Amino acid sequence: MAKDVILTGLRANSEFHLGNYLGAILPMVELQKKHAGQYQLNMFIPDLHSFTTPIDHGKLYEQTHQNLKVFVAAGLDIDQPDTFIYRQSYIPAHSEMTWILDCFTYFGELSRMTEFKDKSEKQANVSAGLFNYPVLMAADILLYGAKWVPVGDDQRQHVEFTRDLAIRMNNKFGDLFVVPEDNTKQAEFTGRAEPVRIRSLRNPEKKMSKSIDDPAGTIMLSDSPEEAAKKVMEATTDSEASIRFDFEKQPGVSNLLQILALLGGKPQEEINKQWVGKTNYGELKSAVAEAVKNFLADLQAKLAKVDEARLMKKIEADEKAMQKVANTTLLKVQKAVGLRPA
Ligand code: ADP
Ligand code: TRP
Repeated sequence: MAKDVILTGLRANSEFHLGNYLGAILPMVELQKKHAGQYQLNMFIPDLHSFTTPIDHGKLYEQTHQNLKVFVAAGLDIDQPDTFIYRQSYIPAHSEMTWILDCFTYFGELSRMTEFKDKSEKQANVSAGLFNYPVLMAADILLYGAKWVPVGDDQRQHVEFTRDLAIRMNNKFGDLFVVPEDNTKQAEFTGRAEPVRIRSLRNPEKKMSKSIDDPAGTIMLSDSPEEAAKKVMEATTDSEASIRFDFEKQPGVSNLLQILALLGGKPQEEINKQWVGKTNYGELKSAVAEAVKNFLADLQAKLAKVDEARLMKKIEADEKAMQKVANTTLLKVQKAVGLRPA
């Protein structure tokens, strides 16, 4: 019997930072370890999504491949036969499926997407692509019959939309699509009610983000280990002078505790036991700075050693295999809507 599919996409229009790593890449690597052999894992770069907001197009191709290498350096095992890594734009069915799905999507439902509202407010010219991008995301998911779609908080609404659309199409045309599980079940599956959210070191009320201009608060995976350690030592904390794990009252200190736990692969409770109640913030910062420094040195060394030729061979083989799967779903849909003989 075919295995259930876990699928996620990671945008590649910029370099990754520690938030992307701990919030998105590491959870996928952990899912792979936990479910090896049991599930099919699709991890792809949605390169067509990259310019829903303006980017430097001269860098996109290189950035896509650099980010694919980060997956491997992070520990993704490319020899797992059930793991597929691919670039969205190399599988044309994504674009074709998007058009068909577009015609069954309501203007009103796309207008309600909070991600669209947030991003469109920040721009003078809002592209139709930005408005439409949840439909492309739905195509990404439905083409492969994915049941599990681990995503960050900001993307959950798009998964709900995908479910609605799949159910609508199934009602109209019969069993066309596998309907992804709802958000409650998705959260149970990843073992986290709340997705990881790393805060900016400078403005711990906000998330660490490349999109916001905040270099001192953001640790890029390409920062030198010393530079990154310095950012940690200068992190904003508070004047309570007592360490507690409470994002409401002490977001800066809690963020540091969270980074320490995730980088060390330790349960949060264990780290909290060690630190909560202590009064010396400098000591905590030094411990986090050390952990970040070691993590970056190790990751960068692994990145330099990734065998690019072998990775590209894997990607190209996976793209061939996934084209077959995607084309099979597309044909089924083309038949249902009357574009091909039934
Ligand atoms: P950015 O906000 O830096 O532009 P993206 O929106 O491209 O990042 O996010 C790519 C992935 O990384 C998404 O899955 C998102 O949920 C995750 N991610 C981004 N920032 C963080 C963060 N600070 N903490 C945890 N996960 C994050
Ligand atoms: N929209 C997601 C983001 O911005 C990336 C993405 C594209 C995705 N297609 C997907 C995630 C399909 C999960 C499944 O982060």
